[in-house]
Order: sequence, then C-alpha cells, then structure tokens
Amino acid sequence: MPAPEIRTIGVVGLGSMGTGIAQLAIEAGYETIGREVTDELGQQAHRRVAHFLQRKVDKERMSANDRQSALARLSLTTDLADLADCDLVIEAIVEDLGDKLALFSELDRVVRDDAILATNTSALSVTEIAASVAAPARVVGMHFFNPAPLMPLVEIVRAELSSDEAVEAAYAVGERMGKHPIRCNDTPGFVVNRVLIPLLNDCLRVLDEARVSPDDLDTAMTAGAGWPMGPCTLVDLVGIDVHVHASEALYEKLREPRMAPPPRIVAMKNAGLLGRKSGRGFYTYD
Ligand code: CAA
Repeated sequence: MPAPEIRTIGVVGLGSMGTGIAQLAIEAGYETIGREVTDELGQQAHRRVAHFLQRKVDKERMSANDRQSALARLSLTTDLADLADCDLVIEAIVEDLGDKLALFSELDRVVRDDAILATNTSALSVTEIAASVAAPARVVGMHFFNPAPLMPLVEIVRAELSSDEAVEAAYAVGERMGKHPIRCNDTPGFVVNRVLIPLLNDCLRVLDEARVSPDDLDTAMTAGAGWPMGPCTLVDLVGIDVHVHASEALYEKLREPRMAPPPRIVAMKNAGLLGRKSGRGFYTYD
C-alpha cells in the first residue's frame, strides 16, 4: 500500500487527548476534521483549542493571524461519514477495546483504502485493534502524552501487520507537529507506560504505606526527585479512570503485581473521582 501524502487529518473523540491532537494538527497546517458524538462536545473542544491558541497569542508565541488561519482549518462533525476524504484518522475515544473495534470497522468502510488509521491507545494492543479492519497494514499506533500540545513525545507504534509506509507516514506527521517521535513495537504499554504505570502505582501505594498526604507525596517527588509534576497531580491530569484502565490492561498482559492498580485508586474511580475532568481526584478543581 503506497502511503498517501497527508493533507487532511480526522480526529475521532475530542476529549482532552483528541482536542490536544486536533490543536497540534491545525497548528501544523493540516486540514482537520474533529468528530464528537454531540455538537455540544465538539463546540466545547473548539473553545478549548481557541483558548489555548489565544494564550499563545497573548504570550507572543503566535500571531493573531496565524491563530485565525489555524482555527479556520478545524471543522467539526458528529458524522463519521464526513471523514471519507481524510488521509489519516487518529482515534482518541474511550479506552474500551469493544468500542475501538467497532469504530475501526466502521472507519474501514468510510475512509479511502489508502488512508492510514491510527489509534492513540495508551495500553491496548494496536494489533488487536488492527484486526478489525480488512487491511491491517494501514493501522498504526500514534500515542501522544497528556497534555498533547505540551509533551514532546509521540510513540509511533508498529503493530504486527503495520506496513512500513504507514509507520513512516505517521512518523512524518509527528515530526511536522513538532514532536519527537520514536518508533516502537506493539508491546504492552509500549515504552513510556511500561515504565511509568508501575512507577505511579508504587507512588500511590506509598501514600498508604508511609501515611503521607497527596500534597506531601507530590512535594517529595518534585523537590526530591526532580519530577516536573507530582504523581498525584499527574494522575489527576491523566484521569483516574484512564490510569486504572491502563494499569489493569498491563496487569492482564504482564501479570506483574506492580502493574495492578492500588485499591485506593480503584475506589476513587468507582466513586466518580476522576481527577481534573470531574473536578475532583486527589485534589479539587474549579
Ligand atoms: N492543552 C493545550 N495547551 C495547554 C494545556 C493543554 N492541555 N495545558 C496548558 N497549556 C498551555 C497553557 O496556555 C499554559 O499557559 P497559561 O497557563 O499561561 O495559559 C501553557 O501551556 C504552559 O502551561 P504550564 O504553565 O502549566 O506549563 P508548565 O511549564 O508548568 O509545564 C507540563 C506543564 C508540560 C504539563 C509539565 O508540568 C510536565 O511535564 N508535567 C508532566 C506531564 C506528564 O508526565 N505527562 C505524561 C502523562 S502520562 C501519559 O499521558 C500517558 C498515558 O498514556 C496516560
């Protein structure tokens, strides 16, 4: 399959990751179509991108004209069929394998045969997701980090049957977005989460073992280990539900006890304390 030149990018799911990815795409000059399930969710994402680009203008990191042109490249839809002309579609919906399989098989019918399909999954198998389409060669992982516009890394994940063309096209998009892409294989957690998830779980276990407050644990890791953000603040940012899901997915595959989510954080997820996005996690947000 020859990789198409990427001009138009579709982003499916405009939660915090999808919104950040759409922002990167329009800033890099790609025509971008964001798909959400309701107009209101799409508008919310649009307002968020407009806000962050305005902050760049305020700080003289972007001109007002460039902001306008970037925003003009972002269109919204609730209809997957509107992604028919995309050269690359990046999926950033909930971390549920069943939902992703259903979406990819629908995308497979909607987009051109030479379009590339990428998943931003944190911990699911890209190979399993790719199995839901007729030509799995066109499926890769493009794993961005939260917050996507600020974190320089993107992992370009080669699944079992990904073509070289699809991997290289995704890599080139990552570079054009101003990221530091790395190529890796479809192993559980890829590179960063394989290391970060058990480390964060250790941090959360220390909360109970050492009987320290989230604030003091965060101070310990920022002031004592040079982390840019403490573990409790980071898990609140990533989303308690996303972290629990990634931990469970890695535990299921690797069977290492450190991968399993500590009971405290599972209880928080069950209680609806999801971090920043729900207004309360380890901390409370406005
Ligand atoms: N989207 C777009 N722009 C954003 C943003 C977002 N979500 N959040 C902030 N910004 C913009 C804002 O305009 C902000 O400026 P103002 O506050 O003046 O408006 C500007 O970026 C700078 O923000 P900060 O002052 O907060 O930036 P900082 O210097 O404090 O750095 C950080 C922030 C880069 C997030 C840093 O704290 C950091 O590196 N934290 C660690 C994050 C991390 O480890 N992420 C990985 C999580 S794991 C993961 O994502 C994997 C997974 O699969 C779950």
